[in-house]
Amino acid sequence: FESWEREKFLEGKNILITAGPTEEAIDPIRYLSNRSTGKMGYALAAASAKLGANVTLVSGPTNLEAPSGVEFIPVRSANDMYEAVFTKFEKMDIAIGCAAVADYRMKEYSASKIKKNDGDLVFELTRNPDILMEMGRRKQKEQILIGFAAESDNLIENAMKKLEKKNLNLIVANSTNAFGNDSNEVFFIDKEKNILEIPQMKKDDLAFKILETLKINL
Ligand code: CTP
Ligand code: CA
Repeated sequence: FESWEREKFLEGKNILITAGPTEEAIDPIRYLSNRSTGKMGYALAAASAKLGANVTLVSGPTNLEAPSGVEFIPVRSANDMYEAVFTKFEKMDIAIGCAAVADYRMKEYSASKIKKNDGDLVFELTRNPDILMEMGRRKQKEQILIGFAAESDNLIENAMKKLEKKNLNLIVANSTNAFGNDSNEVFFIDKEKNILEIPQMKKDDLAFKILETLKINL
């Protein structure tokens, strides 16, 4: 399908998408992060814009170009992302948490470069806020919240737990094997515990598939 063939069913809707990894600084030149490329979140942002939505993309550092026609808010750390998200969340009709947010950050950031010593180096980490869970807590009845679950084991069971705990309308469960790939095989799980297996497809196509689930909810 070309974009001109698509019914713009998101016309007038405000949609917020988090994407990419976060970077948690260790010292001025080092950080903790993960292998997320941001492809899925950027594909969702581009697809949402094509479907007529007003898109806000809050993204951690990636090598991707922001899709045209979206409000782009680049961030680095999970705390930065949290702040950006909650200046926008209230006005949103739909939010999709697609970012691979680092679960932990350094307990203490070192303002000067850490020098090496002969022995081991031990870091203490502290929990980052769960951005999606906080969106679920603040969610109003008419707002729709979609999350992802990246699992290496017990995909469906763990994804269902996240769906409930974070008060989501839909969770997209994907194996951690998808990290960095162009295509992805996933399951959609909704509040009623309906499980839909989605065949392997390009992330660009998967983005439209995910957004199509909104058609019945809007
Ligand atoms: N998420 C978030 N903020 C965090 C951690 C996760 O917003 N600090 C969101 C992700 O964007 C994703 C969903 O929560 O949509 C699930 O992320 P995932 O890492 O799979 O689950 P966690 O809840 O972090 O649990 P764990 O990593 O222990 O499996
Ligand atoms: Ca996590």
